[in-house]
Amino acid sequence: MFDLSAFDLSAFDPSTLAVPIVGAPMAGGPSTPALTAAISAAGGFGILAGAYLSPDALRAEIAAVRAATDAPFGVNLFVPEELVFDAAAFDEYRARLLPLAGMFGAELPTAPAYTDDAFAAKVDVLLDERVAAVSFTFGAPAPKVYAAFADRDIATVTTVTTLDEARIAVASGSTALCAQGIEAGGHRSTFEILADDSEIGVGDLIVAVAGLGVPVIGAGGVGGVDDVRAILAAGAVAAQVGTLFLPTPEAGTRAAHRAALADPRFTATATTRAYSGRLARALVNDFVRDFTDVAPPVYPQVNTLTGPLRRAAADDPQVINLWAGTGWRGARPASAAEVVAHLNPNN
Ligand SMILES: Cc1cc2nc3c(=O)[nH]c(=O)nc-3n(C[C@H](O)[C@H](O)[C@H](O)COP(=O)(O)O)c2cc1C
Repeated sequence: MFDLSAFDLSAFDPSTLAVPIVGAPMAGGPSTPALTAAISAAGGFGILAGAYLSPDALRAEIAAVRAATDAPFGVNLFVPEELVFDAAAFDEYRARLLPLAGMFGAELPTAPAYTDDAFAAKVDVLLDERVAAVSFTFGAPAPKVYAAFADRDIATVTTVTTLDEARIAVASGSTALCAQGIEAGGHRSTFEILADDSEIGVGDLIVAVAGLGVPVIGAGGVGGVDDVRAILAAGAVAAQVGTLFLPTPEAGTRAAHRAALADPRFTATATTRAYSGRLARALVNDFVRDFTDVAPPVYPQVNTLTGPLRRAAADDPQVINLWAGTGWRGARPASAAEVVAHLNPNN
């Protein structure tokens, strides 16, 4: 156990950052303790991805960030939503993927179990570890969860894609919002799996939620410092950036994903349910082209379904999920500290 007295445990306020850049959590590999620590140490605020990690692995990653920096940082969790499992839609999608899976020798699971990603156990880890802030994606947990964090002076940031979601989050006790625009790379934080995407841009969403009385972080599409300036001008206190950190040496981004970000053959991004059953923005490759129209909104089971294929095809950019926001052309292989400095509107 760490001696927490060595750390600044006062509640995080995103309005007070030395550099108004929040390093987005990026679950599934890109997020690492080294990346989180480097962003926080550079004056921004790194958020570690807690999704897909076991509670013990999350605790170990928090310890690794603390071993690298004494600057405050946050942790992100996916909020679970259990739907009745649509076996027919799942089976039909599985059948469509089988020929491709066969080409890569990947075994696709037949009826994956629902998982809540150990949400409650990870909440307990975060309460115990007293990280500076917890951010939520895919929903607002119960008010008692927000209250438990508030009791320990831990800030809570809820990622929203609409004004309605923002109202729910603030009414539940969230101390800040992350307004995620349609431009953002990776998963959309839409509260309901089955809901259509609002497709609201980051600037409009910041303006819409700015009156709710909590600080707003704007996320989506940052490709350079001008995009950060636009997010701040719309009323946000900081910009949350994901894609531009993917090529940094501190990130755990796969080689094929790094290469694709710089490859002129990729010319567009799109949102798709093809990889996980939830909408997410990725570079358009063959997989996105072939499966977006037929992928069902069955999460997290479709995520589990495509996992073996994505692992077997890890080196093939036409198959794997190349999460990227609309500003991906601004991504450069520089250190995380250099990216923070490059995006600092005060420089
Ligand atoms: C590879 C990747 C993984 C992501 N994983 C998460 C995640 O685990 N939790 C989360 O809240 N957001 C996640 N996001 C979304 C970011 O929080 C943020 O909204 C987005 O990166 C901002 O847009 P940008 O990528 O255009 O900068 C991810 C984004 C990317 C690119």
